[in-house]
Amino acid sequence: MSTPVRVAVTGPAGQIGYALLFRIASGEMLGPDTPVVLQLLEIPPAMDALRGVAMELEDGAFPLLQDMVLTSDAEEGFRDANVVCLVGAKPRGPGQERADLLKDNGRIFTGQGEAIAKAAADDVKVAVVGNPANTNALIAANNADGVDLARFTAMVRLDENRAKSQLAKKAGVPVSEVTNLAVWGNHSPTMFPDFENARIGGKPLTEVITDRDWLEGEFLTTVQQRGKAIIDARGASSAASAANALLDHVRNWTGGEATADGDWVSMAVPSDGSYGIPEGIISGFPVTTDGEGNYEIVQGLELSDYARGRIQTSVDELQEEKAAVADML
Ligand code: NAD
Ligand code: LMR
Repeated sequence: MSTPVRVAVTGPAGQIGYALLFRIASGEMLGPDTPVVLQLLEIPPAMDALRGVAMELEDGAFPLLQDMVLTSDAEEGFRDANVVCLVGAKPRGPGQERADLLKDNGRIFTGQGEAIAKAAADDVKVAVVGNPANTNALIAANNADGVDLARFTAMVRLDENRAKSQLAKKAGVPVSEVTNLAVWGNHSPTMFPDFENARIGGKPLTEVITDRDWLEGEFLTTVQQRGKAIIDARGASSAASAANALLDHVRNWTGGEATADGDWVSMAVPSDGSYGIPEGIISGFPVTTDGEGNYEIVQGLELSDYARGRIQTSVDELQEEKAAVADML
């Protein structure tokens, strides 16, 4: 067996953690041949619950799970970690927007950014899930001196998956037929799932779904408001689907599963100025990945004035969130 990959997860005793850890241990994040060490970082009041989760992980007798570290010390949690999943943060409740969590959650990411810089492996790759994810990732990146900015990403893959499912349902096709669907901007109600560049069964999506009113109306609103709809229905925010999207995000980035030829996936990554999105924010983009730790922003896509307007709204919101946490950057 190859050398184990060290995967650090924060908030492992929470809802997403419970839906995530067993699937990492079974190989769904890094592939069926890659052993893992799980490094689980919780806050002290949740350590008992975490011990219970760890007992269940043991009881799964997962052949790939080589070891576990349970800790409430960030440096210990991130020590030599190759993959860091920053999930631990407060979820929003009914009536809140994700940005309302900035003041409560932002502080978590200053200390964790510093600890990643001190302790993680040289090849560390960070995926932020805790909300507001894009700006929390920016905070962590800005506090991780010496770590390449490009290693800090945030998750918009859940939004991509949500969009693909809605589009597949509308077109009456299996979800795997929907490709090239990028979510631009912020993981917030301003996000833009770009249906204009998406494809269904290899054809431009807008030739298959010709109901433009539905695309600009019900479709967009459903995807943008899906997190709220789940909170309203479940009384708690999405957990299993979020864990699933995180597995997708990391597997494509560094778990051995490159994006298919001609396709792309959505990741929120530090902008390099592509498509006029300013540097200094972490925005959803279409990316291709090699599954070996590299991603590239897809270049040369045509964006209509409509798409550009939508993306600009989300970018403006990211700039506002950045200004609100200026003291943490
Ligand atoms: P939860 O409340 O069930 O669990 C959060 C866990 O994080 C708890 O166990 C808590 O003790 C732990 N935690 C808090 N502060 C911590 C810290 N400093 N270090 C380590 N652990 C810490 O919440 P959840 O449902 O698992 O959601 C976690 C976060 O993910 C929330 O912010 C939620 O809004 C967000 N989320 C994001 C997406 C996305 O698509 N980006 C989707 C769903 C949820
Ligand atoms: C989601 O999109 O489901 C999560 O970001 C949780 C939330 O607050 O909506």
